[in-house]
Amino acid sequence: MTAIDEIKARLDIVDIVSNSVELRRSGKSYSGFCPFHHNTRTPAFAVFPDTGTWRCFGECNEGGDIFSYVMKKEGWDFPTALRELADQAGIELKPLTPQEQERYEEYDRLRELLESAVTFFRHQLHNSAPGQKALQYLNDRGFNDEIIETFGIGYAPNSWEAATDHFKAKGYTEADLIDAGLVSERESGGVYDRFRHRIVLPIRDDRGRMAGFGARTLDPEGLPKYLNSPQTDIFDKGKILFGLDQARKSIRMEDQVVIVEGYMGVLAPHQHGYTNVVATMGTALTEDHLRLIKRFTRRIILAMDSDAAGIQATLRGLEVARQTLDREGEISFDARGLLRQEARLKADIRVSTLPEGMDPDDVINRDPADWETIIDAAKPIVVHVMETLAADRNLDDPKNKTEIAAQVMPLIGDVPSSVERDTYRQQLARLLRVDERSLLETRGARTAPGRRPPAQRFPSVQPTPRGATASPFKAIHTREIHLLGTLLRRPDLIYHIDRQLQEDGLNRIKTQDFQHTDHQMLFRLVQDSLHQGESEPLHFVLNHLPESMMPLADTILAHTDKIDPQGKDVLEDLLRALLLLRATGVSQQLDHLRYLQETAQEQGDIRAKEFSNTMVQYVALLSRLHRAQNRYSNHSLTN
Ligand code: UTP
Ligand code: MN
Repeated sequence: MTAIDEIKARLDIVDIVSNSVELRRSGKSYSGFCPFHHNTRTPAFAVFPDTGTWRCFGECNEGGDIFSYVMKKEGWDFPTALRELADQAGIELKPLTPQEQERYEEYDRLRELLESAVTFFRHQLHNSAPGQKALQYLNDRGFNDEIIETFGIGYAPNSWEAATDHFKAKGYTEADLIDAGLVSERESGGVYDRFRHRIVLPIRDDRGRMAGFGARTLDPEGLPKYLNSPQTDIFDKGKILFGLDQARKSIRMEDQVVIVEGYMGVLAPHQHGYTNVVATMGTALTEDHLRLIKRFTRRIILAMDSDAAGIQATLRGLEVARQTLDREGEISFDARGLLRQEARLKADIRVSTLPEGMDPDDVINRDPADWETIIDAAKPIVVHVMETLAADRNLDDPKNKTEIAAQVMPLIGDVPSSVERDTYRQQLARLLRVDERSLLETRGARTAPGRRPPAQRFPSVQPTPRGATASPFKAIHTREIHLLGTLLRRPDLIYHIDRQLQEDGLNRIKTQDFQHTDHQMLFRLVQDSLHQGESEPLHFVLNHLPESMMPLADTILAHTDKIDPQGKDVLEDLLRALLLLRATGVSQQLDHLRYLQETAQEQGDIRAKEFSNTMVQYVALLSRLHRAQNRYSNHSLTN
């Protein structure tokens, strides 16, 4: 993933545009007055969260993504936009400074120390008498040698200095041991072993690098039950999911992850072949966790404890909890927060409840096959909430029905997809045995305009927008690379292209002809390279390319090295690729426009007419493009 993709994944275009434009939601898009041309009558400016794009269908007739938006709005050049947006998205762009270099080397040393602690604890488990007892405990809980080995589980001896002495003898200092979280400091000075007489579970990051330990007491009365590594530079519970290093492969393969609470909840399923399971470690699920997961799959199942402070209570405490949770980036298992994350990450989050009083390991130990049944029964968040609320309630009592409807309807309102919304409403009506129409009158069913909850602004798992199926996307990518690869070698061809386009009554080639932001950036540099006397155009481009984009330039050049930049068909090939790109772009815009038009029409919105007029112009443009395109195709055939 390039930095640009990462930024786009993290930032929401609706958020960005909302800073300067008042947007109104209409179906799955947003509209408002275009900030780039003066007009207070027609809100011809549209934002499409599911593709992360914006477009003015009015005077400007221009569009793009968050990058082009802020560049235009703030007057930034691309490197500035990249820097600013990376900053907002919390992404590091710069090559490492010497200080950072040093810090990362220090982290590597800590990881090495932790790695050697894994070995030490494992040795204790297998080669000491108390260790044997610990092993017995694990076996009694149903864990076999293989899983113990796979997860590198060990035993911390019942001593205040065994580990400390061991590592000091290996040359580590007390400061190292403190930094790694292996020891605690005495008030009187000196240190003592942090983990004593406990089962220790190595905690690794998604790449398998050591981060810390979770240690379970062997003493039934022992407190805390689990003692974890303290927060260190390399261990942050809010950013690590236990087991992800072991699970990542099957998460990708199955395109699904199951998130449970607790270490044992991971070990048991893994032992029985359900290896797509990871866990939070006694803290709420965070946005960072979900982002981490999203790199592997967007299909997420939360396997929740049935008791654990009770889901009901979580729901009731929701309104109060929401703000603080938002601020801390914690989303907890709160339905509204989850829905919002689901929409924002374009994920499919489902919830499955474990049988009363059981952990995943209890389920597995009773009958491993039950695990599958439970996972298969996972429900979309909204359905989960309505069913939980309805459980054990007398649904013949109209007061109960009203109460449940009042809690669920706002949630349904938060779902961005209208198809999903309808389905949930029908499900709720069936569950409560009421008429669907009466649900719509429930208090909280509608949100006052201008006071919509943030969640409504985000897209959700929904069918790909018309005209934006996967394969044209790939075709666009390929064509853009073809264009760029050639122009990088022959920037002068831009002049020839422009002349030809003008003869056909078409606009000159411009950055917006490229849909990929990084391609736009490259093209802009190619253009710049024509207006300078500093160096050879290609060198100029490469010299001015941000570090983070070098790999892209390499790839493009490598992919296009078969093209003969001096060949006689090169110009026609370029024109053909460009016209195809434009035609694809215009069809996509037409799709957008058609959608806007239909929505406006349904809502009796006066803009429906304006959108129709614009569509006529687009259709005309499209046919002009097709005509030109045919000419080049035919021409090259006769050559
Ligand atoms: P649980 O108390 O449910 O533990 O805490 P568990 O996973 O069922 O453990 P067993 O089966 O009794 O051995 C769930 C998770 O919360 C964190 C741990 O990650 C634990 O797995 N936790 C719990 C702590 O970090 N500290 C504690 O004192 C307790
Ligand atoms: Mn348990």
